[in-house]
Amino acid sequence: MKDSFGRTIDYLRVSVTDRCNFRCVYCMPEDGYPVSPKDELLTFEEMSRLIHIAADLGMTKVRLTGGEPLIRKDLSMLVANIRKHPAISDLSCTTNAHLLGEKAAELKAAGLDRVNISLDTLREDKFVEIARRGSLRRVMDGIEEAMRVGLNPIKINCVLMKGVNDDEVVDFARWTLREDVHVRFIEVMPIRWNLDETDPMDAMSALSGDRKLFRLRIQEDVGMLSDAQMRRMVVPFSVAKERIEHELGPMTSFEIPTNGPAHTYRLANAKGTVGFISQISWDLCERCNRLRLTADGQLRPCLMSDGEVDLRTPLRDGASDDEIRSVFLNVVANKPERHYLAEGQKVMGRGMSQIGG
Ligand code: 5AD
Ligand code: SF4
Repeated sequence: MKDSFGRTIDYLRVSVTDRCNFRCVYCMPEDGYPVSPKDELLTFEEMSRLIHIAADLGMTKVRLTGGEPLIRKDLSMLVANIRKHPAISDLSCTTNAHLLGEKAAELKAAGLDRVNISLDTLREDKFVEIARRGSLRRVMDGIEEAMRVGLNPIKINCVLMKGVNDDEVVDFARWTLREDVHVRFIEVMPIRWNLDETDPMDAMSALSGDRKLFRLRIQEDVGMLSDAQMRRMVVPFSVAKERIEHELGPMTSFEIPTNGPAHTYRLANAKGTVGFISQISWDLCERCNRLRLTADGQLRPCLMSDGEVDLRTPLRDGASDDEIRSVFLNVVANKPERHYLAEGQKVMGRGMSQIGG
C-alpha cells in the first residue's frame, strides 16, 4: 500500500490492551487512565481477522503493543494466529518485561520473532520512582530469559529525561559492549491529555530527603509528568552521544535490519548497538511506514495527530472483508504528511497507553 505522499505502508502496530501493570511517569497517571470497558476491546479473533486482512493488503511487519501486551491472557494464541499468515515476515512485541520471564519461551514457541523492552534505568531505586510498579530485578530476569530463548535482536527502549536518567547513558551504552543488546534512547514526547499549559512547576525539585535520588514533581491533578515538563526534559541526542563517546570512545554509524526510525551506532568491539529515536523532529515522518490499531478497534494513521477511524463497529455489524479492506485503504490514503509537535501542536485525544506506544 502506498499513501498519497509515496510512502509504502507495510507496518501495523496493534495495541492489544490499554491496561498496564506499570505507571511510568511520562505515560500514565498513578491511578491509571480510565480504561475502555472490556467489551469494547477487540477479541483476539477480531484482531486476527483485521491483521490477516491488513497482511493481504501488503502489511509485512506486525508489532504487538499496549498498554502492556503481556498482561492480556493467552497472548501466544494471538501470536500463533498472526504467524499463520505467510506475508508476515517480522512479528514483534513491545513489553516492559515484567512478565517476560514467565512468558518468553511460550511466545517464542508460538512464533514471536523478537521483543523491544522498555527500560529507563539500571538502578533499582530510580526504577521505583519512574515505573512506580514492578521491580528492576524482574525486568532483568525477563530480558535474560528473552535472550535465552532467542527473541532477538533484543532492543532496549530507554526514554531519556533530563535530570532523571541522563546520567545513565554511559551505563546503558556499556551494556552493549558485553551483550548483544540494542539500546535505543527515545526522546520523551509530550503526548497526553494536555490540560496544563500554565504549568507552574519546575521539572524536578532538588533532592528531597536522603532516600530519593531526585523527586519527580508530579502534577497532582493528573498524576504524571505534565506536557510542559516533558518538553523541558528533552535531552539533545548530540549531548548523550558525546557523553558516551567521551567515556567509551568513538561510535561508528551502524545500521541493523529492523532498526526502524533509529539512528544507530556501534562502539568499537561492541556486541550490540546504541540508537537514538526522536519523534519530535519530524524528519522521521518522511520515512513513516506504519498504521496503528488501538485496543478498542480504531485505526490511526499517525501517533502524533488526532484522527482515527472506527473498525470495531463495522466488524461487529458483520462487515465483509471487502468493506474492511476499504477502511484500511481509506486510512492509508488519508495518512497525514507529518505531525506538528515542533510547532506546538497538541495531541488531545488519548494517552500513549491508549494508542499503543
Ligand atoms: N515519550 C516517549 N516514550 C514514551 N513511551 C510511552 N510514553 C512515552 C512518552 N511520553 C514509550 C515507552 C515504551 C513505549 C511503549 O512507548 O517507554 O518504550
Ligand atoms: Fe506501561 Fe509502557 Fe506506559 Fe510504562 S510506558 S506505563 S510500561 S505502557
